Amino acid sequence: MSEQPDRAIWGSKLGFLLAAIGSAIGLGNIWRFSYMAYENGGGAFLVPYFFALIIAGLPLIILEYTIGHREKGASPLAFARIDKKWEWVGWWMPTVASVGILLFYSIVIAWCLNYFLFSFKLSWGTETGAFFEKTFLNSSGDPFDLGGCNLKILAASAVVWIITWAICFKEINHGIEKACMIFMPILLVLTTVLVCWALTLDGAMMGIKHYLTPDWDKINIIKHFNNSEVWNVWLNAFGQIFFTLSLGFGIMIAYASYLPRKTDIVRNGLITAFANCAYSFFAGFAVFGTLGFMALQKGVPIDKVVADGVGLAFIVYPEAINQLPVGSKIFGAAFFLTLFIAGLSSAVSLVEAFVCAITDKFACKRSTTISVFCICGFVTSSIFTTRAGLSILDIVDHFINQYGLVTGGLLECIFVGWVLKAHVARNHVNSLGATRLSKLWDICIKYITPVILTIILIQAIRGDINNPYGDGAYPARALFIYGGGIILLTLIIAVYLSVQSWHRAKHFHKPEEEQLLT
Ligand code: ALA
Repeated sequence: MSEQPDRAIWGSKLGFLLAAIGSAIGLGNIWRFSYMAYENGGGAFLVPYFFALIIAGLPLIILEYTIGHREKGASPLAFARIDKKWEWVGWWMPTVASVGILLFYSIVIAWCLNYFLFSFKLSWGTETGAFFEKTFLNSSGDPFDLGGCNLKILAASAVVWIITWAICFKEINHGIEKACMIFMPILLVLTTVLVCWALTLDGAMMGIKHYLTPDWDKINIIKHFNNSEVWNVWLNAFGQIFFTLSLGFGIMIAYASYLPRKTDIVRNGLITAFANCAYSFFAGFAVFGTLGFMALQKGVPIDKVVADGVGLAFIVYPEAINQLPVGSKIFGAAFFLTLFIAGLSSAVSLVEAFVCAITDKFACKRSTTISVFCICGFVTSSIFTTRAGLSILDIVDHFINQYGLVTGGLLECIFVGWVLKAHVARNHVNSLGATRLSKLWDICIKYITPVILTIILIQAIRGDINNPYGDGAYPARALFIYGGGIILLTLIIAVYLSVQSWHRAKHFHKPEEEQLLT
C-alpha cells in the first residue's frame, strides 16, 4: 500500500507502542486509579477493574486501532468514510477528550509541577490537607465562586501548555514519538524506586493487604441489586478503564492512523492494555504501602486515612513524605516528577486526537492548528485555577467519565458491530497476516460489550437521580450546569464540526488501491 504522501507514519514499532502506552499511562494510573481504588474499597475495586478490562477494554482498544488503521484518519474521517451519518460521533470523542478532559487534566499536571517545586522545601507543612485545599487551591467548595485566579497554578499551567505545544508542534514521529521514547523509561525507573521505597515503610503491609483483599460484599450486585453504592464500584471501574486506556477519546484511532500497513493490531492492543494496567497495579503498591504507613502513624483504620479522594496524591503523599527520617525531599520530588511526566505523555495525546481531526477535515497547517489549540486550551483551562476550580473539576470528571467516555465506547461498538459490521473489521485485522482475531471478538463488539455498557449507563443515571453526585456537597444546578452542560457543549461542538464540508476532499475518499485492500 502506498502511504498518503502528507501523512506521517511512526518511525518504529517501538515508537508507536511507547506513544500509545504513554497516552494510556497518565495521571489516571497514579492519581485517579489510587483514589478510585481507595474510595471503592481497595481490593474490592480490582475485581470489577479487571472484569472491565476484559469485557470492554481489550475489545475496544483493538476496535479503535482497527478503524484508525483501516481508514487512515482520526476518528471523524474514519467514521465519515464508513458512514457520513456517523461523523458526529467521530467528532464527539476527541471533543470530549479535549474540552471535557484535557482542560482539567492540564491543571492537575500543573498542580504536580507546583508540588514538585514545593518538595524541595516541604512547603506543604504539617497540615497537608488544609494546605492543599485552602492555602494552595484556595478552594471555597462553591462551584460558582469563579473569582480568585491562582497565579502559581496559572503559571505552572502555562509551562504545561508550552511543553505540550513544543512536543506536538512537530510531526508525530519527531515530536510525540521522540518525547515518549524518553519519558517512558524515566517513568518506569521513578515508579520502581517509589514502590520499593513505599514497601519498606512501617505499616506498608497493612496497606497492601487492604489493596489486595477483595471485600466480596462491596461488589456483589446480585445480593445488593438495589444498593447504588455497590453499583457505583462497577460503574467507577468501567469509567476508570475507559479513562486509563484512553478509550472513547479518539486518541487510539488517531495514533493507529499513523501506522504502516503491515502492523499487528491485536498484539499492539494487548501490549498497550496490559502494560497500562500492569503499571497501575504496580504503582498501587506505592500508594497503598504509603497509606498503610499513614494509618499506623495516625492510629486509624486504613479507610479513614484521608477523607477526600481527589486530593489523595496531594494530601497523603506529602504527609507521608514529612514523616520520612531521611531523603524526604528527594522522594517528594521523585513522586511529583513521576506524576508530571506521566501526565505530559497523556496530555500530548489528548491534543493530538483533536488536532489530527481538524487537520484531516479542514486541511489547515498542523503547526498553526497546534498553536491556536494550545492558546485556547490554556485560556479556557484557567477556570480550574479559580476558587471554584476543585469543585468544578470533581463534577466534570464524574460526568465525563461515567457518561461521556462510556457512551462514546457504546456508540463505537454499535457503529463497528452493526454499521461497518464486526466481521469486516475483523477481516481487515486478519488480512494483515499477523495475530488473528477470533469470532469471539465479533460477539463481544456486537452483543456483550454494548449490553454491559448499556446496563452501566442505566445504572449510572439511576444512581445520579436517586443520589445526586457529591452527597449534597453541590447544589443541583451546579450538577446540571457543569455536568450536563459539559456533555451538551461537547455534543454541540461535535455536531457543528460534523456538518462542515470536507476541505480535503481528496482525503475523504480513500485512494483506490486502499479501497481494494480493505
Ligand atoms: N489515559 C490517560 C490517563 O490515564 C488519560 O491519565
